[in-house]
Amino acid sequence: MIRVGVIGYGTIGKRIADAITKQNDMKLIGIAKLKPDYEALIAIEKGYRVYTHRERVKDFEKRGLDVAGTIEDLIRESDVVVDATPKGVGLKNKLEFYDRHGVKAIFQGGESAEIAEVSFNSLINYEKALNRRYVRIVSCNTTAILRILASFLINDIQIDRVRVFIVRRGADPKEYSRGPINDVVIEPTPSHHELDVKSVLPDINIATYSIAIPTTLAHTQFLYIVFRDRVDRDYIIDVLEKTPRILLVNREDGFTSIAQIFEWSRDSGRDRNDLYECIVFQDTVTVKDRELSMIIAVHSEAIVIPENIDAIRAITGFEDKWFSIKSTDINLGIIQKGKVYGK
Ligand SMILES: NC(=O)c1ccc[n+]([C@@H]2O[C@H](COP(=O)([O-])OP(=O)(O)OC[C@H]3O[C@@H](n4cnc5c(N)ncnc54)[C@H](OP(=O)(O)O)[C@@H]3O)[C@@H](O)[C@H]2O)c1
Repeated sequence: MIRVGVIGYGTIGKRIADAITKQNDMKLIGIAKLKPDYEALIAIEKGYRVYTHRERVKDFEKRGLDVAGTIEDLIRESDVVVDATPKGVGLKNKLEFYDRHGVKAIFQGGESAEIAEVSFNSLINYEKALNRRYVRIVSCNTTAILRILASFLINDIQIDRVRVFIVRRGADPKEYSRGPINDVVIEPTPSHHELDVKSVLPDINIATYSIAIPTTLAHTQFLYIVFRDRVDRDYIIDVLEKTPRILLVNREDGFTSIAQIFEWSRDSGRDRNDLYECIVFQDTVTVKDRELSMIIAVHSEAIVIPENIDAIRAITGFEDKWFSIKSTDINLGIIQKGKVYGK
């Protein structure tokens, strides 16, 4: 059993904690957060042990919430911690706690690539994370781009260049104070996703551009990929269909918007309506000679959860990449029909 502590129990951390409890080879030791709020209360109601910083313990006690110990206690009881704190806090935690206690740690995409020895994507570089001390999961949009590129690389389809136009959701649903509310925000060019993809695939010819709009549902990406050789649309669809964690949806089944995919997810009974898959709108897949263009959707709150679970296995030395990916997918209820778990 891999003993795991989750530090940071917000949008990403709570999902990672729940996902850990669904794996047969992992034990959730507990979660850590700062505020004794409704999220802490629900964690306790779920039976999770809640830890906090030494100076915050009394805040929890004042509200009658049980504290299992300090963050340092959680680190001592864990083989690996997953840090899902806000951007920049992961680095502070690394310097203050993880370095000192010798614990292995997995960071999220808000931290810069330099925080870890490896920036991670299960399909592309699982092996590189084996037995490392620090691994970083790339951001949600980057995870989606990498899964798409992985589908081609796994099948030896050579990529010449990649251009991605990202329409970012303005905020996560719970982020009441973020925007835009009535605007289209032009983000710096190139967008940070370009460097993030290169942290995993350093030699890829990629450029990314990003705007943010008033929606909290999901990101949308327009991908334009040029291959070295001519490709066939049916073959590209086949490759995407066989790649784990990519889900093709089409108009025939009634999917013409992101809201409908979430409705499908709700109707399917998924926890929190989470879409772990990178969603490809199949009707938009257009192939002309060597060029492919298509539109995908990325559920920012959920897409990185499977990668976090695989990274826990890799960092603790579990060598069978495809076994890990498949187990994670089964345990999270990710669609497996038609998928090939292996090269
Ligand atoms: N949200 C997304 O869509 C998304 C997608 C992919 C990757 N990421 C990345 O994932 C990371 C986490 O993002 P998030 O959206 O999940 O953040 P979030 O919702 O704001 O949650 C952050 C959590 O960290 C806790 N925390 C803050 N400072 C802490 C500290 N010093 N020690 C321990 N816990 C602390 C907070 O506790 P309190 O609430 O008690 O203060 C909260 O539980 C970031 O690197 C982000 O870039 C986010």
